Amino acid sequence: MGRIELRGINKFFGKNHVLRDLDLTIDDGEFMTLLGPSGCGKTTTLRVVAGLEKPQSGTIRVDGKEVVNAAEYYFAPPSKRNLNLVFQSYALWPHMTVFKNVAFGLTVKKLPSSEVKRRVAQALERMQIASFSERYPSELSGGQQQRVAIARAIVSEPKLLLLDEPLSNLDAKLRIDMRSELKRLHQELGTTVIYVTHDQVEALTMSTKIAIFFDGRLAQVAPPMEVYNNPADLRVADFIGNPRINLIPGRAKRDGDTVRVRSDLGALTFQVKNFIDMNWTDEEFDCTLGIRPEQIAIAQTEPSAYLTAGKVYSSMPAGSETLIQIQAGTSNLLAKEIGISPYETEQTIYLNIDPRKINLFDTVSKKLIKKSVNK
Ligand SMILES: Nc1ncnc2c1ncn2[C@@H]1O[C@H](COP(=O)(O)OP(=O)(O)OP(=O)(O)O)[C@@H](O)[C@H]1O
Ligand SMILES: [Mg+2]
Repeated sequence: MGRIELRGINKFFGKNHVLRDLDLTIDDGEFMTLLGPSGCGKTTTLRVVAGLEKPQSGTIRVDGKEVVNAAEYYFAPPSKRNLNLVFQSYALWPHMTVFKNVAFGLTVKKLPSSEVKRRVAQALERMQIASFSERYPSELSGGQQQRVAIARAIVSEPKLLLLDEPLSNLDAKLRIDMRSELKRLHQELGTTVIYVTHDQVEALTMSTKIAIFFDGRLAQVAPPMEVYNNPADLRVADFIGNPRINLIPGRAKRDGDTVRVRSDLGALTFQVKNFIDMNWTDEEFDCTLGIRPEQIAIAQTEPSAYLTAGKVYSSMPAGSETLIQIQAGTSNLLAKEIGISPYETEQTIYLNIDPRKINLFDTVSKKLIKKSVNK
């Protein structure tokens, strides 16, 4: 078991309201990533769950058992919450070798020494630090220390693992290796993980669900591909995806079963049934089209049908993919193609975009009003 429920959590530091009406359920076996820009409240949320901070209001349950009830001023101590924690800054014991640091928890549990050795060796192997086993933390780089801290947390195969930016000190290649190790580990052990990061790629690749924060408030909680394909508002759309989503201003008007949208991309037609939470009127209104760079199809010769013509502003090949900056009307668009594309600067090109893949946002409320659909 490993289910965590936060209800109505509010946290203030002095007058600074850092967590606002937080409702979040992390199901048993979930890999939940808390994602958002610096200072949005991710670490604070983790510390509140772990019992290192007391919220001013709200309740928290772990496996149905109340561990926080702010109204009754009840806060179970961290040791009574059955959680394992790795922090942004990792506190290793300086007087113990890597092996002893990692083995400590198991030794305390009085496991036979052969079992301790086997488990520690496996955890060090996973984190690619087996050769440092006899070194002291002061003899390791930041990234190596960070991996020791992760090994220490996973060695006891905990039911609940809280990780705060555990890969922040690693170089790009090692970070990808460690992501895949953590993902495997999660799948093999069925551990519930709460993982904090401000790296959206990390969130998309590892999580079963992402909770996106802005200014202490949750903007969306959903599986990674749902967050990517249907961001709940313009802030989420802009935050998720690299390269960034294209956001183009448009004017929308309903006409029977369809909605017509005019923009620098020409005239597009959408099905009314794909819109959500709308109070339709006859008025035209401001909308924002959200288009992922990989959804833009480029033709070099004039096809029989296309949405709009544009000009190549610059073409940026990067080996496995090419990014193409395009000018269409007064809008700049970024398109992405797999492989090396042969475009010339100022070349005229023809753009097509499947309207089903386009997101529409209400420009005033910033909310998603039309999801992308596959059929
Ligand atoms: N102990 C504290 N005392 C006062 N203010 C704090 C304290 N801890 C955090 N804060 C404030 O609370 C807000 C949220 O901080 P938090 O550490 O949760 O952000 P974060 O999302 O983890 O950011 P980062 O990505 O930079 O780690 C920030 O404005 C921060 O300055
Ligand atoms: Mg933090």
